[in-house]
Amino acid sequence: MRILSGIQPTGQPHLGNYFGMMEPAIRLQDEGEALYFIADLHALTTVHDPEALRRNSLEMAIDFMACGLDPKKATLFRQSDIPEVTELAWVLSSVTPMGLLKRCHSFKDKTGKGMEATHGLFSYPVLMAADIVLYDSDVVPVGQDQKQHLEVTRDLVVKINEAYGEETLRLPEPRIHAAAAAVPGLDGQKMSKSYHNTLPVFGEDKPLRKAIMRIPTDSTPLEDAKPTEESTILALYKLVASAAEFEQMVADHENGGVGYGDFKKRLFEAYWEYFAAFRRHRNEIAADPGEVTRILQDAATRAREIAVPVMDRVRKAVGLR
Ligand code: ADP
Ligand code: TRP
Repeated sequence: MRILSGIQPTGQPHLGNYFGMMEPAIRLQDEGEALYFIADLHALTTVHDPEALRRNSLEMAIDFMACGLDPKKATLFRQSDIPEVTELAWVLSSVTPMGLLKRCHSFKDKTGKGMEATHGLFSYPVLMAADIVLYDSDVVPVGQDQKQHLEVTRDLVVKINEAYGEETLRLPEPRIHAAAAAVPGLDGQKMSKSYHNTLPVFGEDKPLRKAIMRIPTDSTPLEDAKPTEESTILALYKLVASAAEFEQMVADHENGGVGYGDFKKRLFEAYWEYFAAFRRHRNEIAADPGEVTRILQDAATRAREIAVPVMDRVRKAVGLR
């Protein structure tokens, strides 16, 4: 089984990225041949500061390893190190109906928030499909928000295979981890870098404590029972607390007598503790950025060994060779 996923180097990874994608991907590194990449070509659609893109790409690789990605088990590479991916994206573009891309939420969301409607942003799902099929991927671990992009990928595989032969591209399956498919942000919307509502995995103590203390809550008096449905505090606590701690917090909501300030303190403590070992691991890795660069380069060589024959097969199938 070949497992593949990517993450954009657009800023610090947060709890949504971690529980929705990174943690499931890291678990899968023991179950098959795992290929994970830093999607710098995708990030180029929104990051136009070259220094920031370079820095974020390296930092994201460090973050992923600090969270448990083992470069001996999984191949961790930079998307742009494999030039075949843009060639394959063009081949896929040539069979992609405009309507399929027009229906994609991510383009509508981003331009709706004022981002310029560039061609890169519009054709983003085609490049993502190329990322996936270039490595004959079987399984793609992602959060719920990427489901539509996987559907586009599968549509394009079917179209190519109908036109050029069933053996041309492999059909991938999304793997969406139900318990963390859509982690809420501090404001209750989906946690996302672009909504400024995140809890970063590697944030700093004081600002994060403050951010958690600012989670909006209702005005139920301290002594009364508090609603457990649609509670951001409970949803986040469930991810970072033990089952017993979580049950206790639910009971304290139901019985009343405990205030939101107390729940928020517990949430901060559990969150801080959950990532403590990762923070230590991160400091060790970050001490030798040269080694991280070497890991990315070696991985690119391995990824290319897979990509080159697949691209050859596609060139022959479509008549470019
Ligand atoms: P962001 O929305 O913060 O820019 P990305 O688009 O870079 O996040 O997503 C990287 C990965 O993390 C994807 O697989 C995505 O599905 C997952 N992910 C992002 N936000 C969440 C969330 N709130 N809950 C679950 N998974 C998420
Ligand atoms: N679009 C994904 C995101 O924003 C990142 C990504 C790019 C990806 N190419 C991919 C994820 C291929 C899985 C497979 O999170």
